Amino acid sequence: MSKTILKVTDLCKTYITNKRQNNALKNVSFEVKEGEMVAIMGPSGSGKSTLLYTASGMDEATSGEVMLDNENIAALPKKKLAEVRLTKMGFIFQQMHMLKNLNLLDNIILPATEVKDNKKSRREITERGEELMREMGIIEVANNDINEVSGGQLQRACICRSMINDPKIIFADEPTGALNRSSSDEVMELLNGLNREGTTIMMVTHDARVAAKCSRVMFIVDGEIKGEKELGACTEDSNIRDRERTLNNWLMEMGW
Ligand SMILES: Nc1ncnc2c1ncn2[C@@H]1O[C@H](COP(=O)(O)OP(=O)(O)O)[C@@H](O)[C@H]1O
Ligand SMILES: [Mg+2]
Repeated sequence: MSKTILKVTDLCKTYITNKRQNNALKNVSFEVKEGEMVAIMGPSGSGKSTLLYTASGMDEATSGEVMLDNENIAALPKKKLAEVRLTKMGFIFQQMHMLKNLNLLDNIILPATEVKDNKKSRREITERGEELMREMGIIEVANNDINEVSGGQLQRACICRSMINDPKIIFADEPTGALNRSSSDEVMELLNGLNREGTTIMMVTHDARVAAKCSRVMFIVDGEIKGEKELGACTEDSNIRDRERTLNNWLMEMGW
């Protein structure tokens, strides 16, 4: 049995806006094993992004415990948490937070240059960035500004950036949300590839075609996990249509 990389216990997140309390996460508990690729699905406003942000330490939970690689990140001092995030986790977000004054390659290697006492030299970091861009098929736009590339290319660049410090786990919020069908398929192929090479992935998606390529799907409604479906690892020989059918049937049962 593989090792647990992420263990979330009784996670709660309450937002207070205009003195009104909104319990966005209500005692959410789950585990992710090393090598899994987990999709979080659920209606809009159900707490998917909040779950991803609090489980990854991007945002502070109101209460609860988040063990990442056997370390309670909810209790870490800010500086230490930033270091853990930088070295153990990769992030792919909806609003992609790329810097406008840097070219694509420099954006990609930025998280590596931020690691304190990085054992890799600037040159090694740059080479790793270029290698990732080659794997993702965007090396030809390495020196372009971020407004000189397509949405699909920008999304691949985000994947490269999320991988630059060889994270154990990648958190992604709708990584295919802004893409057309063929770019979305390509991005999923890349993420499936990274996952097969050992990177654990946890992602939010509202697209069953995308979730069908994950190994497990969690369905969240009103800040609670309503159910989970194990689909098993998606290999190169997997029948995607069958996986989609299985998932869609289950989502119907869940009231999707
Ligand atoms: N920064 C915030 N401040 C206040 N309320 C928020 C904030 N972010 C999310 N919420 C609220 O929390 C709930 C869950 O939001 P979210 O996690 O973004 O849902 P999803 O990603 O599933 O669409 C919603 O009711 C939303 O309005
Ligand atoms: Mg969201």
